[in-house]
Amino acid sequence: MCGIVGYVGNKVAQSVLLVGLEKLEYRGYDSAGIATIHHGELGVRKKEGKLRQLADLLASQPLGGTIGIGHTRWATHGEPSDRNAHPHTDGDDRLAIVHNGVIENYLQLREELERAGHVFKSETDSEVVAHLLADYLSDGLPPQRALLATYSRLDGYFALAVVSEHFPDTVYAVRQGPPLVIGLGEGENFLASDTNALLRFTRRVVFVEDGQVVELTRDRVTVIDREAQPVELAVREIKLDDQDLDKGDYAHYMLKEIFEQPRLLGDIFVSRVANHRDIAFANLGLTPQELNSVSRVVIQAAGTSWHAGLVGKYLLEHYVRLHVEVDVSSEFRYRNPVLGGDTIVMAISQSGETADTLAGIREAKSKFIKVISLVNVEGSTIDRESDGVLHLMAGPEIGVASTKAFTAQLIALVLLAMHWGRLKYAIDDDAVRKVLRELEQIPAKMERILEQNDALRRLAAEFADAKDFFFIGRGYNYPTALEGALKLKEISYIHATGYPAGELKHGPIALIESDTPVVAICNAGPTYAKTMSNVAEVRARGGRIIVLATEGDTEVGRTADHVIFIPPVIDELSPLLTVVPLQLLAYHVAVLRGCDVDRPRNLAKSVTVE
Ligand code: AGP
Repeated sequence: MCGIVGYVGNKVAQSVLLVGLEKLEYRGYDSAGIATIHHGELGVRKKEGKLRQLADLLASQPLGGTIGIGHTRWATHGEPSDRNAHPHTDGDDRLAIVHNGVIENYLQLREELERAGHVFKSETDSEVVAHLLADYLSDGLPPQRALLATYSRLDGYFALAVVSEHFPDTVYAVRQGPPLVIGLGEGENFLASDTNALLRFTRRVVFVEDGQVVELTRDRVTVIDREAQPVELAVREIKLDDQDLDKGDYAHYMLKEIFEQPRLLGDIFVSRVANHRDIAFANLGLTPQELNSVSRVVIQAAGTSWHAGLVGKYLLEHYVRLHVEVDVSSEFRYRNPVLGGDTIVMAISQSGETADTLAGIREAKSKFIKVISLVNVEGSTIDRESDGVLHLMAGPEIGVASTKAFTAQLIALVLLAMHWGRLKYAIDDDAVRKVLRELEQIPAKMERILEQNDALRRLAAEFADAKDFFFIGRGYNYPTALEGALKLKEISYIHATGYPAGELKHGPIALIESDTPVVAICNAGPTYAKTMSNVAEVRARGGRIIVLATEGDTEVGRTADHVIFIPPVIDELSPLLTVVPLQLLAYHVAVLRGCDVDRPRNLAKSVTVE
């Protein structure tokens, strides 16, 4: 939702903070700002718009000092504007805070503070923290105690960082919900919402837990818990390199991440599969006996990860013969689900910080249900709070529109289904070997689809002005249709909807008129004939039809206006291939429409508020 950074050391804080914010901009880009302490004085610069606007302001009005905090915002309370940009200061402008999350009781706190004479400068929820903390400090509480006292008054989710003239050599921070990571340097120390902002400076990190208060100086890092007891630092080494965060020669991170998929899936296959038989999972969190006793799985996730969960349902039912339900996280955590002893919950998340999904995990654990999570970001909150974790190994995904994480989720689900199906004797070694051999060929087949990139760019040009788009599919490719629609709508802003192809005649077909674009996924398989009859229904009403078909299909050209061919693949693995043209189509339409592909409006990469 937002990105926060902090620095104290021997470098010019402004430069370090801007580098960090640039790596976090994918978390929100409605406004940005920094605050530093220079010669004991607080300075603040903040600006509506993307980080570029702040950098331009700082070029003309730089801030000195080797200690500071920074923020890049995804607006929740108060429209994007200069005055609602973070950092926010107290009434005396001696203290500044940056905040990621939501203070749910801010109105009550604001009224209380205004009655006590505080004057607010913004419409945000975050500003109450600056005034509250200033009050506790002026009451004589030492900074860590003042922060704990402030923390105890706040309801909601927050990762906060603070600098002040009261403590000119120290950055303080507190975490309750959204992530916060300490970066350990030599003669300098860092804070950030995630490790992407730290890679340029250090690989040694400490993940801050909920309820912990951090005190950072250039030479010392101390952490205390809610009871003000010191906490031992669990230092971890980040494996990623900063160049993993670079988009290289690609115009956008999204395009780079689409083209990374073949290599990535090949690497994942090699690292997890041996002899086309043995599948390695380091930490599933359940013993083979426990896995064997499970008969029901509830998958909960959001957005693209939810679509992967829907594919996972088909895979786990087909290969493991489990009962599988799939919920969007924001529904799961409020429906008081019936979860019994034979049930586990599976969370799927790229970021590992999605508040809805995290809340779902906590709901499951409150009912003593084991949780296995498929997560891309190691050390993320979902990673650390799950009983078992299957890391996606997709590397940092910077583009807000998820692509490589989706296919990495799919391959993880296929491998889990093979492993689990064999454990439960629902699938034999020969069948597993057959699927694994098919899976091993996916990267090369993906490469063949990516070779159609120019053709897809030309196709996108024919539809860049469309107002509505339909995506339809059946079985394993009903979720793919949903995913294709989400990709297009979230980066091109065209109204796009995915439907089960069989559902069109139950209402949606009323929307089809002359030239309405419809993408139909008609790969060779058990649902081909039925989906082609749905295509005919659309055609009869004047729709413009783009069909994804299997190479060698000579029938489809009679009905479709455009055909995108994919290599032959077993139906169970087909989403790994059918999604790729849809990713490229969405990408090129968005580029042709002049949209900000990597940072689409109103969105953020990691939705850390409910
Ligand atoms: C996908 O393209 C979107 N950016 C969004 O729907 C995303 O999948 C969703 O917010 C879930 O994120 P997560 O996988 O990090 O939990």
